Amino acid sequence: MKFFVDTADIDAIRELAATGLVDGVTTNPSLIAQSGRDFFEVIKEIASVVDGPVSAETVAMDHETMLQEGRKLAALADNIAVKVPLTPAGLKTCKALSDDGIKVNVTLCFSAGQALLAAKAGAAFISPFVGRLDDISYDGLDLIEDICQIYANYDFDTEVLVASCRGPLHVTEAAKIGADIATVPPKVLHQLYNHPLTDKGLDAFMKDWAATGQSIL
Ligand code: E4P
Repeated sequence: MKFFVDTADIDAIRELAATGLVDGVTTNPSLIAQSGRDFFEVIKEIASVVDGPVSAETVAMDHETMLQEGRKLAALADNIAVKVPLTPAGLKTCKALSDDGIKVNVTLCFSAGQALLAAKAGAAFISPFVGRLDDISYDGLDLIEDICQIYANYDFDTEVLVASCRGPLHVTEAAKIGADIATVPPKVLHQLYNHPLTDKGLDAFMKDWAATGQSIL
């Protein structure tokens, strides 16, 4: 499973990229607003720090303007994936950009039918939002299972990018299902490291080692 980081916080991205665990980055207009920075500057900076795809989202509602925005965003760096919403205009734009060889991430997916349409429109990535489905008492992971099954049935190349991950279980359950990618806030990536028995075991090893009076270096 690939890990994308879901943030526009360049310091957090740099820190996590240094671990070698980051395969890409996703942003959205809310994350850009939170960063307080210029959209184009921050996207270019992220794209220079991370080798993998960096999703930058369009904000127009109509196809023609969305297409212009998508082309402008794609020109910022070789590793930009243009993010468009799962609307008729978004899927038309997805098809046009994909035909031009630009990677498109179709976002705000909440049903298997929507995911099927995105794959047929040539999306490189589909972003189903598991956390937001959980928020309204639907099991977001059921949707991941359905999409993975449908894409396997028809050999679609579209990668399932599990979005709106709220904790480590969303990541590991999605990995069990076989989703291609999880995009996670930095906090969730840090949470994946944690286990109380790791901390407890390490404490005991360090105490016992100190008692030997030896050193490795
Ligand atoms: C990623 O592409 C999505 O924009 C993001 O995961 C949404 O997460 P949220 O539901 O926590 O805002």
